[in-house]
Amino acid sequence: MKIVCLPGDGIGPEVSAVAIRALRLLAPDVEVEERPFGAAAIRAGGDPLPEETLAACRAADAVLKGPIGDPEFDGADVRPEQGLLRLRAELDVYANLRPAARDGVDLLIVRELVGGLYFGASGVRDDGTAFDTCEYTPAQVERVARRAFELARGRRRHLTSIDKANVLETSRLWRRVVNEVAADYPDVELEHMLVDNAAMQIASSPEQFDVIVTENMFGDILSDLAAAVTGGLGLAPSASLGDAGPGVFEPVHGSAPDIAGRGVANPAAMLRSTALLLEHGLGRAADARRLEHAVDAALKTTPMPDGGGHATTLAFADAVAARL
Ligand code: NAD
Ligand code: IPM
Ligand code: MN
Repeated sequence: MKIVCLPGDGIGPEVSAVAIRALRLLAPDVEVEERPFGAAAIRAGGDPLPEETLAACRAADAVLKGPIGDPEFDGADVRPEQGLLRLRAELDVYANLRPAARDGVDLLIVRELVGGLYFGASGVRDDGTAFDTCEYTPAQVERVARRAFELARGRRRHLTSIDKANVLETSRLWRRVVNEVAADYPDVELEHMLVDNAAMQIASSPEQFDVIVTENMFGDILSDLAAAVTGGLGLAPSASLGDAGPGVFEPVHGSAPDIAGRGVANPAAMLRSTALLLEHGLGRAADARRLEHAVDAALKTTPMPDGGGHATTLAFADAVAARL
């Protein structure tokens, strides 16, 4: 089996190195190939997602991705984030699973990842007006809704669909299609919630949620919020899955330029993303559990600054490696 690692920018290489170290201990037979991506790739050749990197990702069993983004390219014509959106679209990983848990809370956000505002027509007109367009086809909504119902079936059988159907046409389509799909899942309890209320509910009573399904940008925002109420961004992993082909496994957080290079980034989100890769990408659920348990133990014995402790990235990595 072969995976491609895209180490990324800022704290990306720091947390990716920890993930690769854990992977070598857990699954020494898995081949790991590193490829340039993001700001590093723009500097090297002008393209955040070089053709060779994309080809390597397509040919891999899974992609392990560190966060990308660099203030140097804020406002530039070519930006690292464009490479990330293109990678997701090219691999058609439309279902982005973002789990968040702590005592009494265990929710899973299923974020639509290749449609909506991020992928509609956009531009700046001659008069200076800027625009972004939000579009969804019924098929785009149906496939992610179906995935969310399937996931809810394997959990507590409760699905909350989050939208802004009181204002947006795309949200009314979303709600109609989710209701149609629900007919195939009578064993799953479906609830609709408006996104502004949902933000309040996630902040004040997150224990009410099991699986959440929502469109691309709402999912982006709500997943940072869900991370914040369950221990912070440094802990939150994600898995982006399509119907066939490799998935992309990456933390919810970004490249954290404010702490990059200081050896204090929490690698737990990247390690948990690696566990999701082992489970969903390589079909190695037992190894995934071992890694998750090692991370949980290290969070207790070796807390980092974002968990109220003083441990460094290296000390945390050592604690995980010792467990493994
Ligand atoms: P961010 O997630 O990078 O950081 C937000 C805050 O969380 C910062 O204070 C940061 O120090 C902290 N943080 C994040 N990860 C942490 C970790 N592992 N350990 C400890 N603290 C951590 O968000 P931002 O500052 O808004 O964005 C920075 C850059 O990252 C931007 O260029 C953005 O586009 C990019 N970004 C990339 C991804 C991705 O690659 N999937 C995701 C989000 C943001
Ligand atoms: C994320 C990030 C990305 C997104 C950005 C960097 C394009 O915030 O993965 O959550 O908005 O999807
Ligand atoms: Mn985000």
